[in-house]
Amino acid sequence: MSEADAQKKAAGAAAAALVESGMVVGLGTGSTAAWFVRALGERGLDVTCVATSLATEELATSVGLKVAQLGETREIDLTVDGADEVGPGLALIKGGGAALLREKLVWEASRRCVVIADAGKVVKTLGRYPLPIEVVAFGHKTIAARICDVLAEFEIGMAPRLRAKDGQPVRTDGGNLIYDAACGRIEEPASLAAALKSITGVVDHGLFLDLAEQALIGAPDGVTTLEP
Ligand code: A5P
Repeated sequence: MSEADAQKKAAGAAAAALVESGMVVGLGTGSTAAWFVRALGERGLDVTCVATSLATEELATSVGLKVAQLGETREIDLTVDGADEVGPGLALIKGGGAALLREKLVWEASRRCVVIADAGKVVKTLGRYPLPIEVVAFGHKTIAARICDVLAEFEIGMAPRLRAKDGQPVRTDGGNLIYDAACGRIEEPASLAAALKSITGVVDHGLFLDLAEQALIGAPDGVTTLEP
């Protein structure tokens, strides 16, 4: 196992220790969140889970967790999820796994959100990791041109790139497309988030601001806790 994977696993296990029987738990998506899901399954608690993707739902079911759909449970007590970047104030970039919309819906429906990551994800300024932006498929090239205009207002010159795999556009669980914007540095995340959200056809973006209450960061010598 690589050092980064060991850190992800340790962060996932630390987060699983926060869960108590009777809780409704939001399950994130990605390789770090998968460690959390496995560790939670191993604890054998009586919990109800809400998954942020079909892949996570499948994993959760396979490790014996009970899964309900968003809106079919009482309020979610705790959501644990990974991130692509963890910036100051626990501002995050998410969506590398194309699950950002369902993730944000679950995060926003949760009383408490904890982000888990390896130490390599912690940054001083967001933007080194390309920002995922989810758009509807209809007219997506026109939407991308409008995204370009908005990015230019923030002095971000690179055109967003349509995410593709094996020569085909990647579709999210909701059937949408993802554009990745190589921002370099995001100096004003809140303003950029609002500007992107105002574009018709943009469903959501991967900036998760003021949502994480705590970060559990794996490190070579254990797991460190960060607060906003
Ligand atoms: C999924 O869409 C993402 O938000 C993931 O949580 C994020 O990409 C982190 O993934 P890893 O844990 O695999 O790095």
